[in-house]
Amino acid sequence: MNLRRRVVVTAAALLTGLSASWLGAQTASQDKPLLSEQVFKNIQVLKGIPVDDFLGTMGLMSAALQFDCSDCHVNAGTDTVEWAADTPRKRMARRMVTMVANINKENFGGRQVVTCWSCHRNRDRPLTTPTMETIYGMPTLEPDDIIVSPPGLPSPESVLDKFIEASGGAQRLAGITSFDGKGTSVGFGGFGGGGEVEIVAKAPDKRATIILFKAETGRGDQIRTYNGREGWVRTPLNVLGEFQLRGGDLDGARFDAQLSFSGQIKQILTNLKAGPATSITDLPAPDSQTVVQQAAASGPATHSVNVVQGAGPRGLLVTLYFDRQSGLLLRELRYGPSPIGRVPTQIDFADYRDVNGIKLPFRITYAWLDGRDSISLSDIKINVPVDEAKFGRPAPLKK
Ligand code: HEC
Ligand code: HEC
Repeated sequence: MNLRRRVVVTAAALLTGLSASWLGAQTASQDKPLLSEQVFKNIQVLKGIPVDDFLGTMGLMSAALQFDCSDCHVNAGTDTVEWAADTPRKRMARRMVTMVANINKENFGGRQVVTCWSCHRNRDRPLTTPTMETIYGMPTLEPDDIIVSPPGLPSPESVLDKFIEASGGAQRLAGITSFDGKGTSVGFGGFGGGGEVEIVAKAPDKRATIILFKAETGRGDQIRTYNGREGWVRTPLNVLGEFQLRGGDLDGARFDAQLSFSGQIKQILTNLKAGPATSITDLPAPDSQTVVQQAAASGPATHSVNVVQGAGPRGLLVTLYFDRQSGLLLRELRYGPSPIGRVPTQIDFADYRDVNGIKLPFRITYAWLDGRDSISLSDIKINVPVDEAKFGRPAPLKK
């Protein structure tokens, strides 16, 4: 068996597909969604889904097998990539998509409980027989996506109330109508560092994250926008370069924009559930030097957290992790839909500082299946005018 380490650069070629009902996405009142088979040339089994969800599906396949795009696609990661060309692995993956759908239909009433991950777990060929190490070793205790709420927990509302209090209180939060944060991006594996970052938001539901790189770095800009109705993403090395969000990513962008104004947290999430208190661990640090330092100091930090799960825009499944001590939000994990399972996106918040009496995170790490953006803000200004154009389609690339 052939374990491959995924290469960050080519993996960045993917854009996460996100969230709630991709069927819902198609019935939404907006423009017709851009469907996979309208945009790509050789789509046989993953038809009828918006492009963002399609790309999320690719990320999910890669993640489950610990593959890089180039393990299934000829020359992926280079200028001569042939996405549409079939390879033996691509054909196998197609058969597996149909197999998984049938397993779920015939045995589990169509619920997506069996996914590529159920069998593959980071391997191209799943293990056939349990090993003694797994039988007698440490069990994995990772909770599954949908949290189970045992009786006797604090109510989810009380956890959200504590967060609102910790952030500065309902009254102060209600007074924020916009903000503009500036900073830099922190690189991963030598890529994506040193970009000039601006995060702008306008209540109740507009947000843009703009990371611009100097021309000589040869790296394209990374821009995510949401204007209250439409969302756009431009990612360097992305298959499509830039595109409008129509599927789960659109719901994710909407939720992130709303969550920028945390005073409304109890209105933007419904069907609240509390999970048992647990702990979460920071993602390994972005730059290799810190990784070495962390390894010396026994690994990334762990935090005790309270967990709340709820439904965001169009049913988007969202899990939030709040620091048990400070009450502040440390992590947002949201799941988009795909034909082969949920597509996770994780946003970590750290380095909370006081800005005019409210607490805002100055360190934000946005991780999707195929890449991470890590942002370190140096300054956030509240209630300043923000140019509306920043929330719309990203300005054309400067040549
Ligand atoms: C395990 C194999 C596998 C991996 C890994 C994989 N893909 Fe795919 N890809 C497929 C299959 C299968 C299809 C065809 C889907 C269909 O027929 O409905 C496809 C189709 C595509 C297409 C459409 C091409 C066209 O014009 O028809 C694009 C674009 C694409 N993949 C991008 C990616 C990216 C980007 C990655 C890496 C993040 C990736 N894929 C990783 C199996 C894979
Ligand atoms: C029920 C278990 C199971 C599930 C679920 C599953 N697979 Fe597999 N898959 C296998 C087994 C077993 C093999 C190896 C078959 C063999 O050795 O001949 C395999 C092989 C493959 C291969 C060929 C790997 C190689 O390098 O030879 C690809 C690609 C693949 N699966 C993709 C997927 C994708 C994509 C999904 C999710 C849509 C998926 N599989 C879901 C069991 C599963």
